[in-house]
Amino acid sequence: MIDKSLVDEVLSRTSIEAVISPYVTLKRAGSTLKGLCPFHSERTPSFVVYPGDNSFYCFGCGAGGDAITFLKKAENMNFEDAVEVLAKRAGIPFVRSDSGADTPRFDRNRILELNREAARYFHARLFDNTPAAAAARAYFTEKRGLSLSVIKHFGLGFAPYDPRGFVSYFKGLGYREDELVAAFLCGKSEKNGELYQSFRDRVIFPIIDVAGNVIAFGGRVLDSSPQKYKNSSDTPVFKKSKNLYALNFARQSCAERLILCEGYMDVIAMHSAGFTNAVATLGTAITPEQARLISHYTKRVILSYDSDEAGQKATARAISLLEPVGLSVSVLHINGAKDPDEYIRKFGADAFRSLLDKSLSKFEFNLDKVLSRHNIEVPQEKIAAAAELCRVISGVYSEAERDIYISEVSKRLGIDPAGIRNDVLREMQRRAKRDKQESLEAIRQNTAGYGDRINPDRARDPLLSNCENTVLSLLLLYPAHRDAAKRPEIALTEDDFFTGLGKRIFAFIRDHYTAEGPDTAALNELFTDEEIGRMTEIRVSRMELTDNGDAVFKESVEALRRAMQQKRLAEQSTTLSGLEALVQAMREREGNKQKNEE
Ligand code: UTP
Ligand code: MN
Repeated sequence: MIDKSLVDEVLSRTSIEAVISPYVTLKRAGSTLKGLCPFHSERTPSFVVYPGDNSFYCFGCGAGGDAITFLKKAENMNFEDAVEVLAKRAGIPFVRSDSGADTPRFDRNRILELNREAARYFHARLFDNTPAAAAARAYFTEKRGLSLSVIKHFGLGFAPYDPRGFVSYFKGLGYREDELVAAFLCGKSEKNGELYQSFRDRVIFPIIDVAGNVIAFGGRVLDSSPQKYKNSSDTPVFKKSKNLYALNFARQSCAERLILCEGYMDVIAMHSAGFTNAVATLGTAITPEQARLISHYTKRVILSYDSDEAGQKATARAISLLEPVGLSVSVLHINGAKDPDEYIRKFGADAFRSLLDKSLSKFEFNLDKVLSRHNIEVPQEKIAAAAELCRVISGVYSEAERDIYISEVSKRLGIDPAGIRNDVLREMQRRAKRDKQESLEAIRQNTAGYGDRINPDRARDPLLSNCENTVLSLLLLYPAHRDAAKRPEIALTEDDFFTGLGKRIFAFIRDHYTAEGPDTAALNELFTDEEIGRMTEIRVSRMELTDNGDAVFKESVEALRRAMQQKRLAEQSTTLSGLEALVQAMREREGNKQKNEE
């Protein structure tokens, strides 16, 4: 645990605005700052920074908290790491204590060093004088056509089957078994507790982040056996959904355009053919986090997925995630090969370059897709194709852009552009109406507390939960009310609160607040980031209100107690009537028995 006074000092010397501004373009709005939320995709800003309160809250996704919470979320760090980063920024000396907590805590730096050692180890094994290593080398050079310098550049390696040797090598370097498991280099057998290698008889692709850390590994079998690729799952230093393969190299050359593809080998083939601006997702469909990451490095993305059906589906999904973060997207149309790797091997780098220059706009991609599904010689089909395309165009925001597409469709289908424009407008009106209904529904569900993941009890009685939140907000904001809550005439207890989360927040305020504010280390220990976001919402919702005086506090407590009392009475009467029903049923059964006996 980090010393509370250190955390307090770090936070008090940290300007939340300065921490957040590299991630979010903030515009001043009164006493607050507003921007597009970095934690979910949106077009209109609902992310608010409260410089006076040193906090942030997103009214769209509910993320919120202090600078530490922000860094934890934005950089996928744990609490200690976030404090360390902020301490360094503020020039406060920070000593990490390895005090024995029960749950093993992994030192991020040690895991990163372990990964680097492992990458070295795998790379060296590729050049061993063994038949297995020779086969691995042949796989890269002969089967995949990679040069030695490309193998070195990407730090490719080989993991031979050698469980004893592997584990003892890293133990010899001073790493513990639990660290090998945490780094996903080993698994632990449930039968005998022995360690086994996560990667064996596989060629290895180290995954390196933009800071140059080795964060994970991918391994491929040398033949066509099942589970072709195996990747590190999430570890203390790696989150698959937040990283991209080869972004460490591509970041230098992707400012104008970045090529996004599916596989490790596609990236390597592209880089060795001179397209060093290529990256790949790590064996999953692209995530919103990856889309945002990409938007920090480039303006334009060329999607270069496999030409099969799965690849085309993935393309459509990628477009829907990349455009909302402000990226312009085009799509590579690969013909005569299943993926970029195969294409470059078959037709060469120049052919691939001209393919890149001919990459399709998103609209052309959709147009081709729709037209390939309809035979437009048949009138019915032509109408269906036109209707589908009108729907696509109706989703385009710029009128100038819509006009271009309308004339394109009119040409391709031989239909009068005025007619198409009418249909597009009608579709846009329909869409606007539907969007409005959807957002009203979302608000309704939200205020009604349906499906509240963070505080499930809220759904049982949203009004009562609101009552509770009022009291909590006053306690969170004002030391005077926290004092008043302890005085005998009020004497608030956990039983005064309705939801599980509400009770926990109250207990936290009682036990871990001083006049200055919360014990941040305890806060991060006892609550999830999402719960911290909810606490922030409760607090900021009250910040704009001016009358938060003693009378308001007393009334709010009384209102909560009355409402809780009513709730209890209502529940008692339902349990009573439940009992009565039971007695009734027993009587009837007795009666039946008697009848039967007669
Ligand atoms: P592909 O099946 O398209 O393979 O998977 P590929 O990249 O063309 O593989 P090669 O050319 O046969 O070597 C694309 C990506 O999906 C992930 C990997 O990241 C792979 O690069 N993948 C694939 C897995 O994670 N596991 C698998 O079993 C298969
Ligand atoms: Mn391939």
